Amino acid sequence: MALPLFDTSSTLAPLDSEIRAKVAAVLDKGVFVLGQEVRGFEAEFAAYVGVPHAVGVANGTDAIVLALRALGIGPGDDVVVPSFTFYASAEAIALTGARPVFCDVDPATFCVTADTVKAALTPQTKAVLVVHLFGNVAPVAEIEALGVPVVEDAAQAAGTRMNTSPPTRPGALGTLATFSFYPSKNLPAFGDGGAVTTRDEALAERVRMLRFHGSRDKQTFELVGHNSRLDELQAGILRVLLPHLDAWADGRRAAARAYADAGLGELVSLPEPTPGSEPAWHLYVVRHERADEILEALNAAGIGARSYYRIPVHLQPAMAAYGGAGLELPGTAEASRTNLAVPMSPVLGPDEAAEVVAALRVPALA
Ligand SMILES: Cc1ncc(COP(=O)(O)O)c(C=O)c1O
Repeated sequence: MALPLFDTSSTLAPLDSEIRAKVAAVLDKGVFVLGQEVRGFEAEFAAYVGVPHAVGVANGTDAIVLALRALGIGPGDDVVVPSFTFYASAEAIALTGARPVFCDVDPATFCVTADTVKAALTPQTKAVLVVHLFGNVAPVAEIEALGVPVVEDAAQAAGTRMNTSPPTRPGALGTLATFSFYPSKNLPAFGDGGAVTTRDEALAERVRMLRFHGSRDKQTFELVGHNSRLDELQAGILRVLLPHLDAWADGRRAAARAYADAGLGELVSLPEPTPGSEPAWHLYVVRHERADEILEALNAAGIGARSYYRIPVHLQPAMAAYGGAGLELPGTAEASRTNLAVPMSPVLGPDEAAEVVAALRVPALA
C-alpha cells in the first residue's frame, strides 16, 4: 500500500535505540514478571490518566473481565454494552458469567448515549460498559446520572482528552476503566498488554489480586482469580513510549484537521467528536451509503481502507444465547453498514489527506 491504514513504524523508528536499550536492560536484570518496570509504568500511566491507580494486566480483554469482577459482577447480573464495538467488549462480560445486554449507538459519534443506555437498562443491570470507540468519548457523567456504575472501555482512546478545566481524560471518567496496548493501539506494546485504571483504592487492590490468582502475597488465595499480568519487557517499552503519547495524539488530531481542510467532509460524513472531547483518533472512520464501492476505489489507488464491525456484536453467532438476534438497533445497523476507516496516524499530513480525497473525487462515486 502506498498509504497504509496504520503507520506505526514512522513513529517508533526515532525511538529504536532507546527501545533496544530498555529491552537489553530488562534482559540484564533478569526479572520478567511484576518487577520495577511494571510498577514504574503503573505509576506513570496513572499520573498520565489522572487517577491514583493503574494496574498492568495481560491485555485489554482481561482488563475488562478483571474490572467487572472487581465490581463483584458475575452470574445473574446484566451489563449494558454497545453492539457496535470490537467483539471483546461483550465477550469479556460473558466471561464473568454476566449477561451482555446490547444497546444502540449514535452513528454520528459511534458512541452510546444516555438515551440508548437507558433503553437497555434492566432490574439486573449492575454496570454499563461504555466504549470510547475509535478514540471518541462516550458521555460517562450523563450515564452515571442514570444511577449505574460506568466502566470505560478505553482500549481505543489513549491520548484522547476532554477540554475541561483542568483537562481530564478517558480512563478517569468512570468507576473503572480499561486499556489495551495491542501493537496497533495509540499507545502500543510489542505484544499484548493492558491496564485497569481507577480512583478507588479498594477496587484497585481487587484488580491487583485478580490478576495474580486472587492472592495478595502468593501464600493465601482469597479469590478464584486469573493469571493476567503485564510483563516487564512490555512495561519497559511502554515507559519509553508513554512520554510521546501526547505528541502522537496531537498528530492524530492534526491529521483529522488535514482531512477536513482537504474537503473530505464534502464527500463522506466525518466522525463527530462528542461534546467536550478532543479525540486522539485511533481510527478515522467516515460514513457513506456506498462504503463498499469507496473501499474498492481507495484500495485500487493503493490507499489502505477497511470497514469495521460490519456484523455488529449482537448478531455474532456466539451472542445468540443473549437474545441478540431479535434486537432492533437502528444506529448500530447504520454505523455497521456505512462505515469505512481511512488512513490515520500521528504522521499523516496534508499531502496524504489530499491524496485520499483525490482518490474519492472520481466520477463513479459522484
Ligand atoms: C474496543 C476494544 N475493546 C477491547 C479490546 C481488547 O483488547 P485486547 O486485544 O488487548 O485484548 C479491543 C482491542 O483489541 C478494543 O478495540
